[in-house]
Order: sequence, then C-alpha cells, then structure tokens
Amino acid sequence: MEDILKNLTIEEKLGQLTMIPPFFYIGDLKKEVFGALTELKLDEKKIFLTGSVLGIQNHEEMNLVQKTYLEKSRHKIPLIFMGDVIHGAVTIMPTPLAQACSFNPELVKKGASESAKEAMSKGLQVTFSPMSDLVRDPRWGRVNESFGEDPYLNYVFSYATVKGYKSEGLLSCVKHFAAYGLSEAGKDYNTVDLSRINLFSYFLSGYEGAINAGADLVMTAFNTFEYVPATINKYLLKDVLRGKLKFKGVIISDYDSLLQTINHRTTLNDCDAAIKGITAGLDIEMASSSYLRCLSEETKKNPELLKLIDEAVLRVLKLKEKAGLFKDPYKKKDLSLDTSKALKVSYDLASESIVLLKNENLPLNKKTKVSLLGKYVSEKDVLGPWSWHGDPNNTDELSKYINAYYKSDFEIFEHYDIEKIKKTEHIILAIGETRHDSGEAHSKADINISLHYETLIKKLSKLNIPITLVLYTGRPLVITNIVPFVNNILVHFHLGSMTSKVVADTIYGINNPSGKLPMTFPRHIGQVPIYYNHLSSGRPYQETDPYTMKYIDISNEPMYEFGYGLSYSKFKYSNLEITNKKATLNNLPTIKVTVTNESNIKGKESVLMYIKDDFASIARPVKELKQFKKIILKPYESKVVEFKLRKEDLSFYNQDLKKIVEKGTFTIYIENLYTELELE
Ligand code: NOJ
Repeated sequence: MEDILKNLTIEEKLGQLTMIPPFFYIGDLKKEVFGALTELKLDEKKIFLTGSVLGIQNHEEMNLVQKTYLEKSRHKIPLIFMGDVIHGAVTIMPTPLAQACSFNPELVKKGASESAKEAMSKGLQVTFSPMSDLVRDPRWGRVNESFGEDPYLNYVFSYATVKGYKSEGLLSCVKHFAAYGLSEAGKDYNTVDLSRINLFSYFLSGYEGAINAGADLVMTAFNTFEYVPATINKYLLKDVLRGKLKFKGVIISDYDSLLQTINHRTTLNDCDAAIKGITAGLDIEMASSSYLRCLSEETKKNPELLKLIDEAVLRVLKLKEKAGLFKDPYKKKDLSLDTSKALKVSYDLASESIVLLKNENLPLNKKTKVSLLGKYVSEKDVLGPWSWHGDPNNTDELSKYINAYYKSDFEIFEHYDIEKIKKTEHIILAIGETRHDSGEAHSKADINISLHYETLIKKLSKLNIPITLVLYTGRPLVITNIVPFVNNILVHFHLGSMTSKVVADTIYGINNPSGKLPMTFPRHIGQVPIYYNHLSSGRPYQETDPYTMKYIDISNEPMYEFGYGLSYSKFKYSNLEITNKKATLNNLPTIKVTVTNESNIKGKESVLMYIKDDFASIARPVKELKQFKKIILKPYESKVVEFKLRKEDLSFYNQDLKKIVEKGTFTIYIENLYTELELE
C-alpha cells in the first residue's frame, strides 16, 4: 500500500479521504448542478478523485459506479462502498434495542452474520453498525438503534455484532464516538456534557466492545465533548480512541459533521474545519469535501499536514485492501439469496426479544374466541426504523396468524362493533408506535402512551373481557395509566420480518417469552433520565425522612426496571453460594445459584448477576450488571448456574482515570438473593 501511496498526487490523496453518495458518479451532473452538488462544491474532476461511496441500492448500481469511476481514474484505486445495515439488509432482524432484550449474544451474532451476507450481496463492503451509544433517555429517537442503558450489555452486544459481520467478511464501523446517546433532554443533536470519569466508566464500553471484536472504522458523533465537536476533538480521537482504546482503523465523520463544526461556532469556515479535522485525527469526511477543496493549499503553508494526510490515506488504502477491492473491485452477481436461513434466525432472535410485562391469562388457548383490534391487525410495515431494503410487502400481518372471531384495524372505539366484541372471550389489542416514531431526528418530548389509546383501553376494559395489549414501540413509553386496565402486556421494540408470527406464537404459547428489558420504563416522564445503575446519593430515599432523594408528587420507582421480563414458566432462585467469602484477586470466588422451573412449561431464563461495591474512594452505583447467562429449563428441571468472578467485575475508574480495584466488601445480587464478598 505504501507504493500506491507514493504515486499519488496530493489531490488524489485527499480524494481518498472524501465520501460522497453514488449519484454523483452516475447521475446527470448538469441537471443536478443546483442541488446537492452545489452544496458539495465539487466539479466533475474532483468527483472522480473521491475515494468512498455512501449507500448503494444493489450490486448493479455498485458495479456501474465502480466501472464509471475506474474508467476515469488515473490511479485505478477502487471505490469502497459503505452503508447503514443496522438490523438486516433484505431479511430484517429485530432492531438493536429489541435484540438486547434477548440477552443472547450468540443469537445476536448469528443475526449479524446473516445480515452481512445480504449486505455484501448488495455490493457493500462496510456497514455503519453497531451503534454502541449508551442511552438513558427514551425521548431520544435513536435509543432504538442502541443496546440500551447498561455498559456491560452494550459491550457484549457490540462485540457479538461485530463478530457476526466479520464471520462473513463484512467490515464494520462502530458509532458515534463518543457519548452521542447523552443528547440533553433526549433532543437529537443537542449538547452533550459529561465528565471524563463518566465517559470512561459508562459511555466507552460499547465502542470498546466493538473495537475489541475488530471493528474496522469508528464514526465520530455530531455532539461536542468538553465543548469541542467530537469530529475535531483531538482528546477524543487521539488520546482516547487511538491511545486508550488502541484503535488502529479508519476514523470517519458522521454525515456532514465536519462542516457542522461551523454551526457549533468552533471553526470559521470549510478550510478551518478541514485543518482542525485532519489535525485532530479525522481520516474520512462524509458528505462534505473540505479536505479535497482546502488541504492541498494548506499543505503549502503547513507541510506538517502532509504527514497526517499520508497516515490517513494509508489507513484507507489498507481498509480497501482488507475489503478485497484490489483483487476484485466488482460484485459479480447478486447471489440469488436464499433468505430461509436468515428468516429462521430472525424468528429465533425475535422470539427471544419479545418481553412479557404483565400476565394474568396468557398463553391463550387456540379455542378462545378472540377480538383482534388495533392498527397492527393488518399492518405489514412492522420492520422498524432503518429497515432499508426490507420490503414490508414480504412480511405478514398479525391477522394471518390469529383466527379471530372479530378483527378490526380501527383504533377509534366508536368504530368498533361492540356487539361482536361482546361475543368474544378475549381482546387482543395490537397498537403503538410506527417505524417513523423513532430514529434519527425523531426525538419526542412526550413519551406517554397517547390519550387516545388510554381512552380506548379504559373503554374496552368496561366490557369486562380480558385484554392483552401488544405494544409495538421504538422506545420505552410511559404506560402507567393503562397498566391496571389490561390483563396482559407484551411489548417489543420492533421485531423485523418475523414480527407477526412471533407475536401470535407468543400469545398462544408456541413461543414462551424470555426477553428482559435493556432499558427502564419510567413511571412518569418527569423521572427521565432514569436508569437502574445510578449512584447512591448522600441522602438515599427513606420513606420516613422527607429530606431524602425523591419527588413529592410521584414515586421514585420506575414502571418496569432494566432486567424486568416474565415467562410462562415459573422460575425459582435458591441456594446462592459463594465458593470463598474472603478472596484476593488471585483467588476470586465462583458464585453459584440454583434456578428451578416450577412449572410444566419449558422455558428460557436469563440469569443476571449484579454487584454493588459497598464502599470505595469514589461514589459507586447502587448495583451494576457484571455477568449473565441464558439457560433453558425443561418442566420442573433445576440447574446450577455458575459465574466465575473476574477482576474487571470488581474494578472501576478512579479520578485519575485509572482502572483500579479496591479492597473491601461487595454485595452480589442474583434475582431476590444476595451474598457478601470480602476482597483482601
Ligand atoms: C447519519 C447518522 O447519524 C449515522 O448513524 C449514519 O450512519 C449516517 N447518517 C450515514 O447514513
């Protein structure tokens, strides 16, 4: 690659650091000259210098763009094609937040490898996934793309996702570095302000998981960190990403985020942004062209920049080599994909991602006379945000799987045929958010279930027929007012291609739900941000003392906490044991717990182990998830689940940002049991 680099002109090098959409190579530039092209300010010569492409429809388009480009290019370095395959390309998997409910990294990995095959068949070499931003505010529209509020879960699922992509040879780009999930008040693109210790302790772990699994690129975030936009933040990119996380791959901006530094009022103009970008360590700029337009001139004034440019270009060339583009720049044919395996994986993943929050009557007997109501009765568009090539026409509607006595996709009570509903024994109400209610730029100030639904549910409840609510949503919603008026609640964060079958199979007990929440459901919107692993406070809540941490108008308790989720089986936890109560780091104990299925229904259970550091030199969370295991239990079967404690389970970042372990006592919690550990 060094040889190729040597032969490039400065302009050709800068081209390698520029990414634009495919249209520019194959569209009619004359017609478009007033559109996006003017924004990019690139003439035809410069367009054919650029090095990477954002998004592609299919392999034919990819081949056409590549061919057109290579014919006009002097150096013949192929373009690399990147795009957002977030939870599937053709076959849609559950969204990342839904996948996190499964607590099953093996399945998540399988899902990613199926998605990788499909993405590559479309001509992509890189996916902009996983989104490893830790989230704490359900108002933020993008929580759906995340793995939720827990740093360990974020690590594990980011790791599994990248491994899945890699298994098929798809390169991956983890995003958005860093802490984009902390956009203030859940408003997309808003200020992010957090301390370094908070960043290190909670927000880095997802990116770290992806990088440790071998993610090839990192995308910078739209937000600032310590008042400097992430895209030009030297501390974030050099000290943290390259230094601490030892990331060696390519750093790419988010869409236009380099030029947005002008709006942040931290750069004067395009050329200032370009200098600050390359100096901070940004390799590729996405959807803008300031490097290509400015940096050649700048290197004359500041030859130091040349070295940085060369390093960046070398990283890009190595990425292209890794993608196999120098061997074969084309995608020979769209493998006539057999999607049956992907659909099976999508079903398996979805079946473990649906969460049972309340249960009085489920599973239903197939003979039960059912009214099937709500907008999702006949809706095929159940794929969730970012479903890209996924075609809703290839999915089934819920009514296909439920043999209802009365079906209606109306949502207005007055329009229901009450007489027909009255003749049935059970109401299934399938309602909630659409794919357009979450995603980028889709933040909401009000995450209460709408008044309209509340009224509808209260009216239906007067009929004295048991109600099962199936809630489709991209984020935790406030459902406090309706919980008492329904008998059963199944919730999911958009399950993808197999949604309807999984929902029906779960209602009828063909699937026994095992999902647990990766993000807390608040009781009231005023509690947001709310997350389980918060600090203790100097005045922790005590009912008898008014001057303790609480609200005077609502309770502190969430509606459903992180980790909550029911099963049709009845699991009992007993015999929590620790092999040695006193330990040193060389002799850490194993924790054992017995889990018994006390029912006659086979089920899966995620066993979660939390630890509380009882006393430390800095304030520590009330508890933190440290390990988990998912097990299958036959009717009346018992299993002993073991967790070997690891040094990292007891460690934390101190004020000097060093990861340390302090001696003392720790409490270990599994379900309703706990034990003490003394570290000497
Ligand atoms: C903007 C989004 O923030 C990012 O996640 C995505 O990968 C890029 N657009 C490219 O589509």
